[in-house]
Amino acid sequence: MKALILSGGAGTRLRPLTYTGAKQLVPVANKPILFYVIENIVATGIKDIGIIIAPETGREIIDRVGDGSRWGVTIQYIWQEKPLGLAHAVWVAKDYLGDNPFLMYLGDNLIGSRVTEEVKSFIEDEDLSAAIFLKSVSNPKAFGVAVIDEGGKVIDLIEKPEHPPSDLALVGIYLFRPIIFEAISRIRPSKRGELEITDAISWLIKKGYNVQSHIVTSWWLDTGKKDDLLLANDTVMDEWLTTDIQGIIDSGSRVTGRVVIEEGARIEQSVVRGPAIIGAGSHLFHAYVGPFTAIGNNVRIVRAAVEHCVIMEGCVIEDVPRLEHSVLGRRVFVRPTPRNQESLCLMVGDDCVVEIGRK
Ligand code: TTP
Repeated sequence: MKALILSGGAGTRLRPLTYTGAKQLVPVANKPILFYVIENIVATGIKDIGIIIAPETGREIIDRVGDGSRWGVTIQYIWQEKPLGLAHAVWVAKDYLGDNPFLMYLGDNLIGSRVTEEVKSFIEDEDLSAAIFLKSVSNPKAFGVAVIDEGGKVIDLIEKPEHPPSDLALVGIYLFRPIIFEAISRIRPSKRGELEITDAISWLIKKGYNVQSHIVTSWWLDTGKKDDLLLANDTVMDEWLTTDIQGIIDSGSRVTGRVVIEEGARIEQSVVRGPAIIGAGSHLFHAYVGPFTAIGNNVRIVRAAVEHCVIMEGCVIEDVPRLEHSVLGRRVFVRPTPRNQESLCLMVGDDCVVEIGRK
């Protein structure tokens, strides 16, 4: 069996981060989202993984992920020239996937459990044409929603329903047999101009093919927007972070809770309260880093307090009383203006958000 990861797309919801990088490489607890996806696939025993990439971000993904040898698998890249939909991405991978069942996984989805058992039972039950993973959510209107019978068989699928018939949202993980290619060849682009995988699955259901469901009971995070990214970071650190101190902590510093301090990081005259990660080569000086903060590599935090933040590599935060609930992309500087105390002095790119504390 092979796996197909969808790692193309436009990533509009995570702008401005996605102007300069792939959304699947955005770090959660200092590790790209895509790596969690690959690890979950590797855990099923699958050895061949195809990754769909887009012209804008494909090169960066190839450079970061490589040929798969670090996970003991073979990774091949498949270019999708335009983000014409999830079903289009599967179609582009038709030759790669061949005549075998396959696991399809969206490259920006995180779940808190393995899919090994589901993959195994799908391979064994040749009567199944597809299987989808579902999660009970509080806001089903925002997702593709499924209706299932008592046995878990999928009866209907509706994309972003006005009146949701159930609260079971489609998580971005699917299992398919090659009949899906016929289904894709029969559907037309949706109103938003994309070939939708939900339409292809609906075609299967209408034609009487068997589509099974699996309910995910662990957490599921779609890292679509800033707050989703912070929540993903919180959840992963809360559940999976274990203390590992490789860097240097001076005697004037206090580090409590579950904290990872990577190699070459230096903590001086500072307080770090876990769960938190300080990336390789980063330097804290007279700083406070509070719970649920992930600091990337080569970041400098000097006379500043940072809590519940994702700070990516190369950032500098100096003389800032308190930075909270924030996501900083790479090489961002936050420091006082040398000008008039009452003024703000900004150099920000497109689609940034600057929120200022009220007096
Ligand atoms: P989405 O989040 O549905 O789409 P997007 O990446 O265009 O993001 P946004 O809505 O923020 O603009 O995509 C889910 C995953 O599938 C994501 O990892 C990107 C990938 N994808 C493709 O590989 N090809 C495609 O044609 C599309 C639409 C998505």
